[in-house]
Amino acid sequence: MPVDESRIISLQEGGTPFIKCNKLGDQLGVKLYIKVEGSNPTGSFKDRGMSVGITKAMELGVNTVGCASTGNTSASLAAYAARAGLRCIVILPSGKVALGKLAQAMFHGAEVISVEGNFDEALEVITSLALDGKLYLLNSVNPFRLEGQKSIGFEIVDDLGWRSPDRIILPVGNAGNISAIWKGVREFYEADFINDLPRMTGIQAEGAAPITNAVRRGAYDIIPVENPETVATAIRIGAPVSALKALRAIYDSDGLSETVTDDEILYSQKLLARSEGIGVEPASAASIAGLRKLVENGEIDKGEEIVCVVTGHLLKDPNTAINACKEPINVEANVEALSRVLKGL
Ligand code: F0G
Repeated sequence: MPVDESRIISLQEGGTPFIKCNKLGDQLGVKLYIKVEGSNPTGSFKDRGMSVGITKAMELGVNTVGCASTGNTSASLAAYAARAGLRCIVILPSGKVALGKLAQAMFHGAEVISVEGNFDEALEVITSLALDGKLYLLNSVNPFRLEGQKSIGFEIVDDLGWRSPDRIILPVGNAGNISAIWKGVREFYEADFINDLPRMTGIQAEGAAPITNAVRRGAYDIIPVENPETVATAIRIGAPVSALKALRAIYDSDGLSETVTDDEILYSQKLLARSEGIGVEPASAASIAGLRKLVENGEIDKGEEIVCVVTGHLLKDPNTAINACKEPINVEANVEALSRVLKGL
């Protein structure tokens, strides 16, 4: 990592679980591993890049950092800025940030501003502040963020015993992570640590899919989606800043991009939770929904070795989780009442 090793700001991010999922894998006819990024300190993959980004901010001697965010970047930035002792400003799209992420950003002491607009508009305003020298921007346009996030690629290779999987599938929003993981695996390939490269497969929500649309056109530029909409608020983004890098990752790796509907996302979120015990937020479940769709339509071959990156923890978005379930049954506190509702016990 491109930082002064004696002054690293860290919360011991990375080293996340890599879980073989036989039940789901067998159902789909593939060899499936899940990289559980929700196990990072603030519950998402953002911590990897934030450690490097905040360490750099300290080296540069800045006193104020900021970001626009659909939630997770702001939660992560707030925590790492607190650890470093920096002033932290986060700009969020009003009413569209999941509760757990909002709680984290506020609780770690960031100055939290809601703008009446979507993420793309929030990013535009904070970028102007950064260009005026008012703060150091820690969105994934910041190259040091991506340097940290490429460690997901390093770890997947390590987790597999110094091999590349056939394919890495992940959700795509602002398009930094797919670019970063591709950079990581490519660096290992160029260093001769591995002999093959994975096909990078980016999944977007149907209502916020500028990257998939560009891939369908075979283009290197995107047409922004004016009013992106999806239950997966983390990836509710119409004009991803790292679009070009992401498209290169997809084309250069002979990869794919596919969309999934909100219903498919919510179904896959529950399927993963109930068949494998892995709780993820809706955006992360897009990778599973995408895998299912690509297997069904024959784009993914039977027997492929696949790593799905699940990017954020279930508890990031408790409202969506609760809404997907029946309410608990209320009973009096005695055995008879319990027996009446717990049939067969
Ligand atoms: N999954 C989760 C849980 C996310 O929070 C994000 C992005 C992504 C996937 C997409 O990653 O942007 O690198 O393509 N969240 C950003 C944020 C935008 O502000 O927290 P990407």
